Amino acid sequence: MTSQEFKKEFEERRLKVEEAIDRLLPPEDARPTIIHKAMRYSMEAGGKRIRPILLLAAHDMFPSEADPFPACVAIECLHTYSLIHDDLPCMDNSDLRRGKPTCHKQFDEAMALLAGDALLTYAFQLLAEAYESRPKIAAGLVLDLADAAGSRKLIGGQVEDVLGERDGKMTPEKLNFIHHNKTAALITSAVTMGVRLADDYSPDKLDVARQIGKNIGLAFQVIDDILDVTSDAATMGKTTGLDAANQKMTYVSLYGVERSREIAAELTQKAIALCQNLSPDCGFLKALISYMQNRIN
Ligand code: IPE
Ligand code: IPE
Ligand code: MG
Ligand code: MG
Ligand code: MG
Repeated sequence: MTSQEFKKEFEERRLKVEEAIDRLLPPEDARPTIIHKAMRYSMEAGGKRIRPILLLAAHDMFPSEADPFPACVAIECLHTYSLIHDDLPCMDNSDLRRGKPTCHKQFDEAMALLAGDALLTYAFQLLAEAYESRPKIAAGLVLDLADAAGSRKLIGGQVEDVLGERDGKMTPEKLNFIHHNKTAALITSAVTMGVRLADDYSPDKLDVARQIGKNIGLAFQVIDDILDVTSDAATMGKTTGLDAANQKMTYVSLYGVERSREIAAELTQKAIALCQNLSPDCGFLKALISYMQNRIN
C-alpha cells in the first residue's frame, strides 16, 4: 500500500469514526446539559482516533455482519475518560489536551471528574445496547474492554506511574509494567475487539491480535515519551515537557532518546512481522502500524 493510499483510507475511516461519535454520544441538550457538553467537548476536541481505527483495521480483515462503529466509539470513550482523569491536577496536572484547554480547565475539576466517569460507564452501555442481539460478541467486547481498563491493567499502570513519581525509584521492570498497562493494554484491546466482531474467529487469531497489540502498544508509549521531550505543545496539542517536570519514569529518562527510538523500531518490526499470521489481507494494518511509529503528534 502506498503512503497516498494509506492516507486516503485512514482519513475515510477517521471521518466515519467522527460521525459515529457525534451520532452515538448522548445529545448535548440532555439534562444535565453541562455533563453532556463536557463529554462531547473532550470527545470532539480531536485526537488521532488510533484505537478505533486499529479496531476497524482488525475488523476489516475478517468476514463480519456486525457493525464495528459502536465498538469504535466505546473504546474512544474509554480512552478519552482516561485522558480527562490523567490531566487532572491530582494526576499529571495538564492544561492542554487535543489542542484545547483540558476538561477541568474548560469546565471545572468536579465536572471533569464526572465527565470521565460518565464516558467510562457509557462505553459499556454502548456495547451492551449495540450488540444486544449478538450476546457472544457483546460479552467478548465487554470482557476485552473491561480487562484492559481495570485495576490490573490501565488503572494499575496509572497507579504505579503515580507511585513512581513519588518514590523516584526507577527500574526497567517497573517501567515496563507501567507502559504495558497504562497504554499497551487498551491498544491491545482495540486489535482483539476488532477480531471479536468477526462471525467466526479462532482463539489463535485472538492470540496473534494480543501479541501485535502488546508490541505496538508498548512502542506507542515509548514514542509518547520521546515526543514529550522532542516535540512541542503546538504540534502535540497537549502540554509537553511534563514528564521531566514531574520526574516521571519514562523510556527517555531510563534509556535516552536514541535507544528509545531503536526500541520502538524493534517493537514495530515485530508487530509488522506478526500481521501476516492474522490475515494475508493485512496491508492497511501494517501501514497503520508504521504510521504509529513515525507519527509526529
Ligand atoms: C495519549 O494517547 C495517551 C497515551 C496513551 C500516550 P493518544 O496519543 O492516542 O491521544 P489522542 O487520542 O490522539 O489525543
Ligand atoms: C497516559 O500516559 C496513559 C493514560 C492516560 C492511561 P501519559 O500521561 O504519558 O499521557 P499523555 O502524555 O498525558 O497523553
Ligand atoms: Mg500520565
Ligand atoms: Mg499525562
Ligand atoms: Mg505522555
